[in-house]
Amino acid sequence: TRPLKVALLGCGVVGSEVARIMTTHADDLAARIGAPVELAGVAVRRPSKVRAGIDPALVTTDATALVKRGDIDVVVEVIGGIEPARTLITTAFEHGASVVSANKALLAQDGAALHAAAQDHDADLYYEAAVAGAIPLIRPLRESLAGDKVNRVLGIVNGTTNFILDKMDSTGAGYQEALDEATALGYAEADPTADVEGFDAAAKAAILAGIAFHTRVRLDDVYREGMTEVTAADFASARAMGCTIKLLAICERAADGGSVTARVHPAMIPLSHPLASVRGAYNAVFVESDAAGQLMFYGPGAGGAPTASAVLGDLVAVCRNKLSGATGPGDSAYARLPVSSMGEVVTRY
Ligand code: HSE
Repeated sequence: TRPLKVALLGCGVVGSEVARIMTTHADDLAARIGAPVELAGVAVRRPSKVRAGIDPALVTTDATALVKRGDIDVVVEVIGGIEPARTLITTAFEHGASVVSANKALLAQDGAALHAAAQDHDADLYYEAAVAGAIPLIRPLRESLAGDKVNRVLGIVNGTTNFILDKMDSTGAGYQEALDEATALGYAEADPTADVEGFDAAAKAAILAGIAFHTRVRLDDVYREGMTEVTAADFASARAMGCTIKLLAICERAADGGSVTARVHPAMIPLSHPLASVRGAYNAVFVESDAAGQLMFYGPGAGGAPTASAVLGDLVAVCRNKLSGATGPGDSAYARLPVSSMGEVVTRY
């Protein structure tokens, strides 16, 4: 069987792990897919930063030429951000490739257009790694629960802020002190705004709500409040009520089924709730549905190897589809339900 050719766009923390696992697990991947997978090119901005172990002959700074080559079966996009990722992904579809992406910002903003572009070219668009790193969520919601009716998704989907809130809760530390430790440990970015102001969680909430409720929810639809105002005194008050404080992404279907809400804000949750026990930089997502009842998905929500695990799972699925001539479940948004920007604010669960 001819090898399936993979182009990797981006070779940072996640991309270099994807390349490493593709090499070390090559035999297993070939057995699971039914054909070998070959890394055919790696596009980066700065070739001098590419880590050891990647054949320098594969490295290019011309991502556009790589996706236009015409012999690429799957493009793995781990660059992040809106452009040039969006143009590269649509160009990949136009040149016959399917796409695996970890890009939450792009999917939250332009998911509908990207799904339409994939469909126009009979291509797949998979993005398990965009929400909560290694935790299987997109495909369980899109596939395993496709016959059920999801009513609510409650998630801790940002590891940096969960680390900070956990530190404040367990040690009495103030926000700044906990943030400094998160930065020193490499969880928080040098500019942690997207994490602490809730933008990162809001993008993930938009993606989850869209898939869970088969509708369109964009980043702009999500009410967002960060966690920078939470104080040690708030934790003391929460404790006195048998609660802790988490930055939650909350996606709900209205009882009449006619609208959905998606929001991100700090919320008190009882210590008896499974989400209260999510410590450190871990993520967890609690799903409530008609038939399954309550489900909890838990695990590492960030980091090179965990995120690469989700990318590789998608790569296997997309490669299998390529070989069988099928495409995956695609866009499950059947209608645009009204999205209330706020909904009823419930700060206690
Ligand atoms: N900054 C994100 C987090 C990374 O802390 O969860 C994963 O999306």
